[in-house]
Parts: sequence; structure tokens; C-alpha cells
Amino acid sequence: MALVAAADFPPPGDLPARKSFPDPLTTFAGEKVTTKEVWLKERRPELKELFQRYMYGRLPESGKVTGVVKYEDKQAFGGKGTLREVELQIDAFGKTNALQIYLMIALPNAPVGAVPTFVGPNFGGNHLYTTDPNIRIPEAWMYDKYPGVKNNQATKEGRGLATDVWPLEVIIGRGYGVATFYNGDVQPDRPNVDEGFRKLMPKPKGDGPDDATATIMSWAWGVSRCADYLSTISEVDAKRLAVVGHSRLGKTALLAGAFDERFALVLPHQAGCGGTGPSRHDDPKAEGVKRINTAFPHWFSTSFKAFNDATEKLPFDQHCLAALCAPRPMLYTNATDDLWANPSGQFEMLKLATPVYELLGVTGLEATTMSPPNKLIESRLGYFIRPGKHAMTPDDWKAFMAFADKWLKK
Ligand code: GCU
Repeated sequence: MALVAAADFPPPGDLPARKSFPDPLTTFAGEKVTTKEVWLKERRPELKELFQRYMYGRLPESGKVTGVVKYEDKQAFGGKGTLREVELQIDAFGKTNALQIYLMIALPNAPVGAVPTFVGPNFGGNHLYTTDPNIRIPEAWMYDKYPGVKNNQATKEGRGLATDVWPLEVIIGRGYGVATFYNGDVQPDRPNVDEGFRKLMPKPKGDGPDDATATIMSWAWGVSRCADYLSTISEVDAKRLAVVGHSRLGKTALLAGAFDERFALVLPHQAGCGGTGPSRHDDPKAEGVKRINTAFPHWFSTSFKAFNDATEKLPFDQHCLAALCAPRPMLYTNATDDLWANPSGQFEMLKLATPVYELLGVTGLEATTMSPPNKLIESRLGYFIRPGKHAMTPDDWKAFMAFADKWLKK
């Protein structure tokens, strides 16, 4: 099959316009993909290239990850579990220990043995999700709107203020491990390129494509470094890692799942535009490409800005990112009031990713219409919408764990 070499992908303006959603099973050069082998060896890598070239920027190489346990309580949660914080020292861009991620890990004390584990970035720092005074307060820049933040710095005032967002004790009570870190450990959520991951990155060369790693890709890279570490500890089952994140971090969870097959289950929560929601849409209530690129210019690559008024030129849409997760189970979760995240558009994306799952010999979304609130569609491509607003709540965790019970616990 004739594939277009990545270096020959044209500048965005020269791409052909297609109003309808591009077929994940037709190559950039227009050839139909009819076998699993061609999907795995050719079309899947091609789509990864296209997403890096035109939307998220490059996924950098991974370096060595060394975990140093900074704190451990083996009798946490009233003796039911272990709470630990590990400094991940990550080699990157030719530098030893270039970047540190502080990964908070909660594990059940029983059953003993490798447990399926949720992993994902959080907003505002690990200390928000436990009252344990030994969990570190992040030093990186963060938004003032997060609990306990003063002058863009986390303070101990925030400790334990968001324990329902990552309900550690409930999760371990269900026999799962859970591991999370502040996304700003990798890259603070602002356009500044003089900090975090983007400071370490080699500066893009003048005449190349505008595909330098953007912030969401850097966060996804960070989640994969956590998987590197978690795969080395005996309490975690490396074959049963579920990647999870909310909103911009849901976009991150999906991207990490699409590019890193070690995530056996993918849980992007209320991720919407730039993640689970389509770029091609004209729903005024849902976020669009121009708006997201204007409000958050650092999230996506410079090349993605060229599609602000030309989404029809994108050589993919977000169902193709979903398809990169095939054949692994994945659940899109939403809230009825959160139209900004485009719950119905997301459902369409799952429908359109389904043929790729089928080509790989499994079923995808087994529903033709969106489920009513609180009714989980638990097919391999799953869907859930609950009443209420944009937030990650204990009810969302119930849905994540019900889906994980089906797909990660045989
Ligand atoms: C904004 C943004 C969304 C994003 C959300 C969040 O609303 O427009 O794209 O998902 O923030 O991360 O909470």
C-alpha cells in the first residue's frame, strides 16, 4: 500500500477540504484499509503521525525513570491501604533527572498481589486529595482558582479540600490501586515556555513544520512516564492500567491511551473539543477549534491554529483518535449540563470509531442512541451521562469502576 511519508504531509492550507468525517479506514493517500495487518502496520502509525503533525505536536522519546519513595504510610485509610508519594526522576532530552513528577499512589492492603490501577494527572496537586500532612505541596505555578492557592502558589490551606474528586479510600475499597500527580509537575497550564517540559525541549528549527510538542502532549508524555514506573512495582498489575483524567486532563488521558498501548482501559471524562468531541461541528453550545486555540494557545501545536476557520481541512477528526485505542475498552463519560464538552458529538465519535474495533475482531459501541442519564452503556466502547455539571464526582467514579469491573476484572 502506498503511504505518504510523514515528511511529505503538506502544510495545513494545502490539505483537501472534507466536510464529512474522514474515514479512519482510508489512508491519507485514499486507499481503503481492509485488513487488521494494514491497520496495525500502516494506517495506525500514519494516524499517529497526522495527529502529531497537525494537532498535538510531537510525542518525545522517553528517558529512564527512577522512582524515589519520599513518603509511605502502610496503615493509611484506617489500616485498609497504603499511601505513598514517589518522586519520579525522569531523564529527558539528553539530561539526567531533567524533570520530576511527584506520583501519589494509594493501594489496598488486601488483596495482596498486583491490582488493576487507575492513573492520571490531577488539577491543583496531590495534597488536595488527602488530609495526610506528609503529602507534598507543589511548587510549580498553578491557577489561583484551585483550593488554597495564593499568588499562583499552592499552600497547605488546600490540603484535603477535594477528596471527593479523587476518592482514594473508596477506590482502594473496591480493590483498585490509584496513582495521580499534579499536571503542572510536567508543564504548568499557561503559555509560558520558560518552565517545565517546554523549557527543556530543544527549540524548533526555523523552517520545519510547526509541530513542536504542545502542552496536552507533554502531559500525556508525563502519564506514560508514570506507567513506566508503575510497571516496575509488584503491587500494580502493569497489564491492567486504566488512564483517567477530567476535561483538559481527559483530553490528555485519551491522547495517552491512543499513543501508549500499555493503558488497558481509557477513561476520558468530559473531555470535549480537542479530545473526545469532534472538531467539525456547528453546535453553538459546544466548544470549537477556534475558541479553544484562542483561549488556550499552548494546548495544541502552532499548526493546529491553521484550522481555526478551516476544520474541514483536518485530515482526521477525533473518532480517529478514539480508533487508535482499538481494541482496548474505553468509556466516554459526560454530564447533562455540560454542553460545552459536546456529549452528543462525543457519542458520534464512538460510533465512527466502531468500524476499526470491528476490523480488529471485537465489537465497539453497541448502542445506536445516547443512553438516558445514569444508565451505563458498557460495551467495549462505552458511554455514560449523568445529571449535573462539569466536574469529576463520586458518581463518575462509580461509573469508571463499574466499567473497569467489567473490563479489567475477569
Ligand atoms: C475550558 C475549556 C475546555 C476544558 C475545560 C477544563 O472550559 O474550554 O476545553 O476541557 O476548560 O479543562 O475544565
